[in-house]
Amino acid sequence: MKLWGGRFAKSTDSEVNDFNSSIRFDGRMYAQDIRGSIAHATMLGKVGVISEEDSKLIVKTLGEILEDIENGKVEFTEDAEDIHMNIETILISRIGDTGKRLHTGRSRNDQVALDIRMYIKDEIIAIKDMLITLESTLLGIAESNLDTIMPGYTHLQKAQPITLAHHTMAYFEMFKRDISRLDDCYKRTNVMPLGSGALAGTTYPLDRQLVCELLDFDSVTLNSLDGVSDRDFVIELASALSICIMHLSRYCEELILWNTNEFQFIEMDDSCSTGSSIMPQKKNPDVAELIRGKTGRVFGDLISILTVMKGIPLAYNKDMQEDKEGIFDAIDTLKLCIPVFNKMIATMKINKDNMRQGASGGFTNATDAADYLVKKGMPFRQAHEVIGKMVLYAIQNSKSLEEFTMDEFKACSDIIEDDIYDAISMETCVNERKIIGAPAPEAVMYSIGKAKEFLESLK
Ligand code: ARG
Repeated sequence: MKLWGGRFAKSTDSEVNDFNSSIRFDGRMYAQDIRGSIAHATMLGKVGVISEEDSKLIVKTLGEILEDIENGKVEFTEDAEDIHMNIETILISRIGDTGKRLHTGRSRNDQVALDIRMYIKDEIIAIKDMLITLESTLLGIAESNLDTIMPGYTHLQKAQPITLAHHTMAYFEMFKRDISRLDDCYKRTNVMPLGSGALAGTTYPLDRQLVCELLDFDSVTLNSLDGVSDRDFVIELASALSICIMHLSRYCEELILWNTNEFQFIEMDDSCSTGSSIMPQKKNPDVAELIRGKTGRVFGDLISILTVMKGIPLAYNKDMQEDKEGIFDAIDTLKLCIPVFNKMIATMKINKDNMRQGASGGFTNATDAADYLVKKGMPFRQAHEVIGKMVLYAIQNSKSLEEFTMDEFKACSDIIEDDIYDAISMETCVNERKIIGAPAPEAVMYSIGKAKEFLESLK
């Protein structure tokens, strides 16, 4: 018999029952459901809606059920539909009529809103911890590569020399924003909806503030219709996770490229690569590719939740049960990807010489050559033109700018002197870019200092 079976003359069709049931995916919220019920029962006892004695027995039994679930002694059933009714059914099977008092002044609509908020709060903290670990790895790579010169690209064409530290810290900034987005999402998730009832609150004198404190929430929801039907925080988390995995995916794309025979900027460690079943020579960056691939499913999760919510009239509608698989999948995917990504970059070999060599080709010092002329008094547009012609000559004669003889330089512009060689060396190009945010080691050290302050502030 269903907990709600009173007004039904027939039992549920078994196919409909399975269709309706969510226990196979919402069972993972058992701990949150039980913690929420313990707080609710404690409060019911305190305000006298149920007796202190009943409240104590319910709380004690819920604790035992939690322990039994954790020890694998409990089996959930499709028959009880979802995690909420599974727990309640088990409670009633253990303490009979007293257990039947737990759901006083509560609906599954505010109960599920509570559970999913609690679940998301826990997961945000877990994912944030993983990102903090990743940030420390990035800092380590940056600190040991302040002088590792490499080409910076635009349009995937060599542009200007930078350092690996500078490049790595770009990703530090991205994940830092991801962390702050998670913090932000946490704030809006941290609002307690229990007491909203099915949609219109309740006539019982519930102490919502007490439940809020018992469950470590910041405040209580202020509108019962919104309390049961708000899933903004689910969408916000899916969105924050989508942005975060988009960052991972971009990084993976670069690492896949750098790991190719053509680039050889890095070599993935054997422990983080895989072979081919047919080609004996192969060592593939599968981890990076898989993370790039999984990005698609997380975006899908976001779009599916947004789409589920877009046409739902107030207040609760069963459509909203569809939010869970999507957000659980997004959470699971990020929790899978961040640690292996971290392992992959912590173990990869960096070929500093190849990076340095890559920086020298492709006229990456052409801007600096133009700036040299500007410093000697030439207007920038004119300098751009002079160096453009110089590059054309260099291409036709298969040489780089730093390989020009003094006569060749003079033929381009007679204001060029011996100091040009130093002015357009890769080291000067990088080291002179020392304003805040630029690649010079001293500028990157400044950003690293700020990065350390940020990580320190999270402790
Ligand atoms: N299992 C449901 C969900 O995940 C909660 C139950 C509310 N169901 C209902 N028919 N009022 O959204």
